[in-house]
Amino acid sequence: MGQKKLIKFAAIKEYENVLEYPEAMQGKWAAFFEELKKGTLNIPLDNLAISPSDPIGVSQGRPLVLELACGRGEYAVGLGRMFPDQNFIGIDLKGNRIWKGASIANKEGLKNIAFVRTQIELTPNYFAKDEVDEIWITFPDPQLRWSKAKKRLTHPKFLRLYQQFLKGGGAKNIVSSNNTVSGISSASGIVHLKTDSPLLYHFTLKVIELYGLNLIYKTENLYAEATIDPRCLIKTYYEGLDIAQSNKIHYIQFNIDKELPIALDEVLKEAIKDIPMDAGELIRMEAEAAREKKEQ
Ligand SMILES: C[S@@+](CC[C@H](N)C(=O)[O-])C[C@H]1O[C@@H](n2cnc3c(N)ncnc32)[C@H](O)[C@@H]1O
Repeated sequence: MGQKKLIKFAAIKEYENVLEYPEAMQGKWAAFFEELKKGTLNIPLDNLAISPSDPIGVSQGRPLVLELACGRGEYAVGLGRMFPDQNFIGIDLKGNRIWKGASIANKEGLKNIAFVRTQIELTPNYFAKDEVDEIWITFPDPQLRWSKAKKRLTHPKFLRLYQQFLKGGGAKNIVSSNNTVSGISSASGIVHLKTDSPLLYHFTLKVIELYGLNLIYKTENLYAEATIDPRCLIKTYYEGLDIAQSNKIHYIQFNIDKELPIALDEVLKEAIKDIPMDAGELIRMEAEAAREKKEQ
């Protein structure tokens, strides 16, 4: 590892707003942010209070929002500035990238922003049921090859993980005694996907359609819309790179408001075979394949 990376990895170990693989934090994030705001996190994380599961929810009225695959955490920081009464956690495996967002939050004294270094696959270990209100997935690797579809962060395999801690995840359909479904709770947690990859966009729409999830909003060309959610105007590092060369930012907002039967995964596998790749993505895939070959 290069010297600069080592310095950043060492720095985040000292930062109060960065936790690495934070076991035993389920249900404690509200208490964590309270302590962070006081100035020093001088009690061991094990001693943080677990928020009671009251009618307001475990976040005690302060929504908790995650940015997955956050890289440098532009969304965690940008949203944290916009919404001081909400708490934000950026999650990524790469400590040197997290360092950037965590350093900005520290410099600006933003005590409602934290970062977790871990694999996204492990997130159910760190958050309690219903603890998270919203998830932003910003410019994740689209995993263009069909054989890698399971690695896409909006694959049902991942959605089932998010469901374990996203507010109302999966249990939103209120099934009555005669087995009829009476509706979706307005308290459903929301997932936002912002991507420059048409393939990932169409793949995610296929998942939403096949598993019957609630689609709130979609656009293939975000910046051409007449009105734009100000949150969507936050730009990330990868957005600036325009790797997919699609010149369009795609955005989807949806709820994971249903159970996601594993039996449908095989149907999905077939259904996504025909999603076309545009020219930019083909170039990107070839570059990725060349890089992987070099690394072998
Ligand atoms: C293409 S970058 C996007 C970063 C940032 N969101 C942006 O738009 O600039 C994808 C990020 O996802 C992270 N990542 C990919 N798979 C991951 C996983 N399974 N767990 C944690 N982080 C992951 C990578 O480390 C990388 O920082």
